[in-house]
Amino acid sequence: MCGIVGYTGAKPAMPILMAGLGQLEYRGYDSAGLALQRRKDIDIIRACGRLSELRDALPKRSAANAGIGHTRWATHGEPSVNNAHPHSDAAGELALVHNGIIENASELKAHLAGLGVSFHTDTDSEVLAALIHHEYQADQDLLAATRRALTRTVGTWGIAVMHKDHKGEIVTARNGSPVIIGVGEHEMFLASDAQALVPYTRQVIYLEDGELARITARSYEVQDLHATRTERLPATIDIEATLASTGEHAHFTLKEIYEQPDALRRLMSGRLDERFATAHFGGLNLTPKELLGFKRIKLLGCGSALISASIGAATIERLARIPADAESAAEFRYRNPIIETDTLYFAVSQSGETFDSLAAVQEIQRKGGTVLGVVNVVGSSIARQCGAGMYLHAGPEVAVVSTKTFASTLAAFTLFALYLARMRDLAPAEGSRVIEALQGLPDLVQSLVEKHETYKGIAEKYADFDRAYFVGRGEGYGLAQEGALKLKEISYIHAEAYPASELKHGPLALIDPQTPTFAVVPDDDLLSKNRSTLAEIRTRKGPVIAICHEGTLSDEADDIIEVPRSHPATDPIALLIPLQFIAYYAALARGCDVDKPRNLAKSVTVE
Ligand code: M6R
Repeated sequence: MCGIVGYTGAKPAMPILMAGLGQLEYRGYDSAGLALQRRKDIDIIRACGRLSELRDALPKRSAANAGIGHTRWATHGEPSVNNAHPHSDAAGELALVHNGIIENASELKAHLAGLGVSFHTDTDSEVLAALIHHEYQADQDLLAATRRALTRTVGTWGIAVMHKDHKGEIVTARNGSPVIIGVGEHEMFLASDAQALVPYTRQVIYLEDGELARITARSYEVQDLHATRTERLPATIDIEATLASTGEHAHFTLKEIYEQPDALRRLMSGRLDERFATAHFGGLNLTPKELLGFKRIKLLGCGSALISASIGAATIERLARIPADAESAAEFRYRNPIIETDTLYFAVSQSGETFDSLAAVQEIQRKGGTVLGVVNVVGSSIARQCGAGMYLHAGPEVAVVSTKTFASTLAAFTLFALYLARMRDLAPAEGSRVIEALQGLPDLVQSLVEKHETYKGIAEKYADFDRAYFVGRGEGYGLAQEGALKLKEISYIHAEAYPASELKHGPLALIDPQTPTFAVVPDDDLLSKNRSTLAEIRTRKGPVIAICHEGTLSDEADDIIEVPRSHPATDPIALLIPLQFIAYYAALARGCDVDKPRNLAKSVTVE
């Protein structure tokens, strides 16, 4: 999704801004642009498509020591050079980059048009540029003009603004869309994602919603929308700078699938307590007594995060015997939810920036509820808004589809379930069995990853089909949802997930030889029920591919992928791996852009 970078200092700004945009590329975008401040002018260069197109459009050299840059993921107006950021006012005096959505753009535009302002793009962001320019006429103070404009604006923004008459000055503001200032030695940076700052500085200031800042090479000044100054000291961030490299792998997706054993090791490191057969968490900020006071657990997220939350809820309920369920963060926040103080809420988000999940957290907190974050990106908005929770430590996930963070989230909830279960009534012996299964998980996942050729053969066999079903029961249904989501996201095969029990209530009508069904069949209490489902599908000549535990099925499916048994609390992580590979290899066989699927962004920072 859209990305912002900015630089002011003594160095040439252009290469720094391009490197910053490169770090944000993984978020997904359809056009990009830079604004470079020359002596008395601002050059704006924009291009549609990838950063290489922008690079071709840039001058060979630029003397600018200050500038702002943007990668755009279209919301208002089609992807085009004209709609790409930075935007300017009609006189070309200022440049603005914007993440978010201006909800009252039409009203503001009509008002400005009435004053004689002309517009040249289809974007809401251009309206904001024009409004700031209009306000600037009053006192020629860029910070004050931006602040006045924002008090008239409804919506979400992360912005950076420059004016030709304010050399070396950038004004930035945040409301619902992240902005981070990087403090260097006689130079300042800004970005919407810390990843773009870490090659230059680890000293950062996270702007809060409703804050603005003016930065120059040697100073920063933060204030709120009432012009009240806020004293802010830089914090040190602790994330790795990752230069986007797939290493020995063909794609980030594949690299990240392979990284799962290490990601799981990192997640568990220091968190398993064999002596008391439980887990440790450093950041929950809740005493055992407080935890025992909760009567229910509710997990919230979007997309794969929601699916991992639903499997996590099942694991918590199974092990800790406490009611737990998962809900879409977007649905939750808009249904005026009843927030109960004896419910413990979790917000699950890889990026920590998903707008709907962040808004759900704010809704819970506003109503006095307790919410913990389960987040991968350290220092992200959801992590900071929650102030407590569990980091996944899965390492940067660059591919648009989540793979390793999904597996790590499942493992994080198994650890939490164990922790809570051992406080409630899980026997130490059963706790030890869960720990043993968790400890064996990285090697088990490694052994499954090594069988990638088997999954490849099956994926290629079914890659030409137009549609597929994914079915399962219990946690197996959650895995079916994840398998279907992965397949549709990157291969564009229409994939639908159903609880296996629902098949005969409608979907069976579509089963035919051209509709393969991927069935998740663990060796559990529902095995015989799952066997009946497979028989029903095959009677209708539908091909069946079963992902099952070793020795559970023989001739009940056309293709069988066997996975060793682990423990009911960890089985979902093992059964997940073949599904990830099937999506990857099917997409590859269909010639799709696996890492950057069409229409999708890594981090969905708008509603
Ligand atoms: O960053 P988040 O975990 O909050 O992202 C939530 C979803 O947008 C994300 O899981 C999405 O569904 C992925 N593309 C799934 O592969």
